[in-house]
Amino acid sequence: MVKRKELPMTIRERYEALKCKVVKREKEFEAFIKMLETESSWLTSPASTRFHLNKEGGLLEHSVGVAETLLKFRELIAPQISEESCVIVGLLHDIGKIGMPGKPRYLKNTNEWEVKNRNMTYKINPAEVDMNLAARSLYLVTKYISLSDSEAQAILAHDGQYIEANKEYAHHEMPLTLLIQFADTWTAHVYEEGRKIEENADYYGKKY
Ligand SMILES: [Fe+2]
Ligand SMILES: [Fe+2]
Repeated sequence: MVKRKELPMTIRERYEALKCKVVKREKEFEAFIKMLETESSWLTSPASTRFHLNKEGGLLEHSVGVAETLLKFRELIAPQISEESCVIVGLLHDIGKIGMPGKPRYLKNTNEWEVKNRNMTYKINPAEVDMNLAARSLYLVTKYISLSDSEAQAILAHDGQYIEANKEYAHHEMPLTLLIQFADTWTAHVYEEGRKIEENADYYGKKY
């Protein structure tokens, strides 16, 4: 008998599997997801204009990846934190990138020169009210879902010390904040960008 090769799960299937992990706040989470899926650019938005995952569905792909990485870290080093918390924070940390419902942040770039020479496949919607992206994520999520203080800090400070304004959190991060910061950068650089994980045996030579 020919053994059927298992097909990898699609992003959409992985996304659906993550959604099932929100149990305690299922109702509010479902209402938010329903709004996102039907009234916003959530399922089609890129993750950036010209950098990582600047393609249709890029934001969903990044968010699913970060939530899964966060769940792996949780299992290994922080099982006290609920899977639900990890899914809410991981999946929604960048939700500010949708812009606002009915007013997407990213628009297809019609300038062929910029697309070709700057890899700028999208541009920022000029009608957008500028806002710190993590703050907008928190703003949108809290319209629908009650968050713990730790979840709120994790969403707001997920970019860690890459962002000047996050200085005020330095050395005061809750464990969930530390986990999302690492899950976010690991997913973006290793899984999405393809930075290789390998032993570096290029030793600095002995001097005697
Ligand atoms: Fe982000
Ligand atoms: Fe992110």
